Amino acid sequence: MDRRAFLASGAALAVAPRISFSQKRIKKLRLASARQSLVGAAHPATEVWTYNGTAPGPLLRFRQGERLRIEVENILPVETTVHWHGLRLPNAMDGVPHLTQPPIAARGGRFAYEFDLPDAGTYWYHPHLGSPEQVGRGLYGALIVEEHQPPAVDRDLVWVLSDWRLDREARIVPDFVSRMDASHAGRIGNTVTVNGAIPDTFEIRAGECIRLRLINASNARIYGLTFEGHTPWLIAFDGQPVEPRPLDGKPVVVGPAQRADLILDCRGEPGTSHRVVDGFYRQRAYELLKIRYTDASPLPKAFSPPPRLQPNPVAQPDLARAERSRIAFGGGMMGTMPSQREHQGLFWTVNGKPAAEHAHHEALLNLKLGRSYVLELVNDTAWHHPIHLHGHVFKVISRGGKEAREWGDTVLLDPRSRAEIAFVADNPGDWMLHCHVLEHQATGMMAVVRVA
Ligand code: C2O
Ligand code: CU
Repeated sequence: MDRRAFLASGAALAVAPRISFSQKRIKKLRLASARQSLVGAAHPATEVWTYNGTAPGPLLRFRQGERLRIEVENILPVETTVHWHGLRLPNAMDGVPHLTQPPIAARGGRFAYEFDLPDAGTYWYHPHLGSPEQVGRGLYGALIVEEHQPPAVDRDLVWVLSDWRLDREARIVPDFVSRMDASHAGRIGNTVTVNGAIPDTFEIRAGECIRLRLINASNARIYGLTFEGHTPWLIAFDGQPVEPRPLDGKPVVVGPAQRADLILDCRGEPGTSHRVVDGFYRQRAYELLKIRYTDASPLPKAFSPPPRLQPNPVAQPDLARAERSRIAFGGGMMGTMPSQREHQGLFWTVNGKPAAEHAHHEALLNLKLGRSYVLELVNDTAWHHPIHLHGHVFKVISRGGKEAREWGDTVLLDPRSRAEIAFVADNPGDWMLHCHVLEHQATGMMAVVRVA
């Protein structure tokens, strides 16, 4: 059953009821299962795994420079950890089981996370243990670190994009890390939700200026969103400021784990509707939701291009003196898969070797604290891979043969393409480098980078 089938029979739901920017400071995340209506009242509610009772979990909001302190309590029947995606934090707080901390035990385990937040931007949190299943069942949430001087907007909104694989009774299909998914594009679901429900319309008032923070929390799905009748401006990617630029009809492409901050100048006529279309997979484009203008008279305001956000205090890599390494990603269907006799259930390789999830493995790279590095990431496969490095923010200096200049923590490698990333190895510890298609990560596509 696809999303359309649900939509045809489902009741309309407005976007974003579950996420609000309440100022209440969250001090605790409690993992437990809950029932949530993902697909509307015409279908049964779905049993999902949650932080504090909802998927996505609560929106955590801090100011730049503040300290995060959160106690995690795990009621679920599986062990877990929390990884704070994109944040530059001490290694012991990174949430990688067996590498940076012991797992948080099932049925009552606890762990306290505490660290400073040096960088403003849009981030998120999710488990780093059994993540294909744990994220696939709903464990993720947004983490916003506000700039000292945020751009002036009428509303600051988050869309957590995720997809689910549901059966006819709207139950999650428990086929996690199947050979078919893991050796191809990953577990792409049949139901896309925004903030934990199938969206129908997104209401705005003419003249509004909206900051829209897109977070791709899906296991494997890539989004390419176009906002018909609108020209969104991209102001940040993966939490890091970019030179503001209008998207001029081009889709905003957000791979798994990536984030995009947009400024949406709402110039439509009162009473009109406009589609937001996800056309990343061309033959399978669909309408994500409709923007609907209320009948209220337009706010009397002129739009001016958003100013560039203040950069985060990330060290500039010294490209002239950087040490270079080449990392090749291989395997997958139509590629050179590891021998199934020796590496049963592992389909992907990093520099020729597959790594089992959380196997204790040697560091792939040993980096010297304080030095600049350029990593050439080579995708020798027929599939997309969003490659994520923990504990650092890097500069993408080229992608698919084109020069780039963006900062990020996750770079999307197109099939049979390459990218170069540069960064200063200024955060000591053992850091994961892995594909954020979670089924690829779990079946070999990960490695450890040691900074010492
Ligand atoms: Cu968002 Cu290692 O992950
Ligand atoms: Cu991958």
